[in-house]
Amino acid sequence: MAGLFAALEASSLGPVLLATKAELHEGNTRHAQGGIAAAIGPGDSPEQHLADTVAAGAGLVNEENARILVESASRRISDLRRYGVHFDSEGVGPAFGREGAHGQARVLHALGDRTGAAVETALAEQVKNGRVVIYEHTLAVEIVMVEGQTVGIRALEQQSGIEHFFEASAVILATGGAGAAFSHTTNTPVATGDGISLAFAAGAEVTDLEFYQFHPTAFRQEGAPPFLISEALRGEGAVLRNHRGQAFMGRYHELADLAPRDIVARAMISEMRASNSDHIWLDCTVLNNLNPIERFPGIASFCRERGIDLRKDHIPVAPAAHYLMGGVRTDNWGRTTVPGLYACGESAATGVHGANRLASNSLLETVVFAKRAVEHIESNTGGAMPPSSDSIPFLPAGGAPVDISTIQRLLWKHAGIERTGQELRAGLAVVRAWPMNPRVVSRENHELAWLSIFAELLLTAALIREESRGAHFRTDFPQRDDERWGRHLVFHRAD
Ligand code: SIN
Repeated sequence: MAGLFAALEASSLGPVLLATKAELHEGNTRHAQGGIAAAIGPGDSPEQHLADTVAAGAGLVNEENARILVESASRRISDLRRYGVHFDSEGVGPAFGREGAHGQARVLHALGDRTGAAVETALAEQVKNGRVVIYEHTLAVEIVMVEGQTVGIRALEQQSGIEHFFEASAVILATGGAGAAFSHTTNTPVATGDGISLAFAAGAEVTDLEFYQFHPTAFRQEGAPPFLISEALRGEGAVLRNHRGQAFMGRYHELADLAPRDIVARAMISEMRASNSDHIWLDCTVLNNLNPIERFPGIASFCRERGIDLRKDHIPVAPAAHYLMGGVRTDNWGRTTVPGLYACGESAATGVHGANRLASNSLLETVVFAKRAVEHIESNTGGAMPPSSDSIPFLPAGGAPVDISTIQRLLWKHAGIERTGQELRAGLAVVRAWPMNPRVVSRENHELAWLSIFAELLLTAALIREESRGAHFRTDFPQRDDERWGRHLVFHRAD
């Protein structure tokens, strides 16, 4: 969504090339269910949306940028409508869903729970019919710099093996998150954190990589593909139940099933441990006055194919890696610390999510900051985000395992929902021992190399942060420590 929106908006400025390593429609957007948070309903206000965003972010939200996020929502929703997105309505106005830690029902959705697919289809149609030059199956392998300025990218056209140099006055990274780095995830396999490692290699600062949000309710059944079971179901009254059939969330938080995601995920882990099971049940038979099949057609159909009827059965769910709050450090114009290099969407760390993202703020972030990156490029003022004064120089070990499942198991075990210094150190020792074999140039090998760098950075950041905050939970440091850790960890490449 970030890439498509940026390309569309930039296409009035001059020639735009959009390179994607897969096909245009592949990416996490397509799988987004809940929707887009926007304080545009009666009784709501950007101020309330801001307060919820700041509270969810556990002390690390950049409030200036978060204010831009919530105050731009109405204009960006109008842009999406102009590009052909039809949001679901109720009566004469839009229908608003509710999700965890939101004080109001303010989540716009489309085609029920197929919001991401509706948005992605509409934007992709516009891009295909417009002036943007599209290169599919073309993997960016290097951000090319001359005298400290971005001058384009080197990219590998995978089918022909041809490597291109695409010259550009500005490069916008919109490469998404890195959920594919974990054994259990709601993300698509293309989410391998490429942009983070590419930007890091070009000298850009990266930050907040220890903050990986685990969504409490991913479908969990042996052999089933990754699939999100939207929090919007709990927003409509669905209830988590343990193996004794008890609704347990009230024992953990006053907001019960709509508590912040980190709290729900840890409560589930604790209940799963108590019953020695790898899942919990989501009971959707108790929804408030609505038919789950109509409101959640995507989830209903996925479950039906596995013999589960939402009207009478419970869904097996467990937490899974979902969203990276951190990424390439940017200012509120999408500028990284490298001149000419911009980032937006999940690959960027704008600071609006702090240590824990408020549900459905991510799709909003993609359009708000993609738009601002394009506006900044149009202004022709150049420059870069000033580097952080306490950025940590870091040189990755540079090795990689032979397959992605090694990285996935490692991060799930050593840097999952509950972390300890001992586990993180052990994980780092494994990463640093991975061999540095020269390998065939291929998409898979690039992804493995980049994921290895990402894993090492994540483990290091999580080890340094000796406290618990938002999505980062250390059982050996279970308290939040604002005095020592009310700050961001920033890294740049030592060489
Ligand atoms: C969901 O639908 O539960 C996910 C929404 C989000 O992560 O923002």
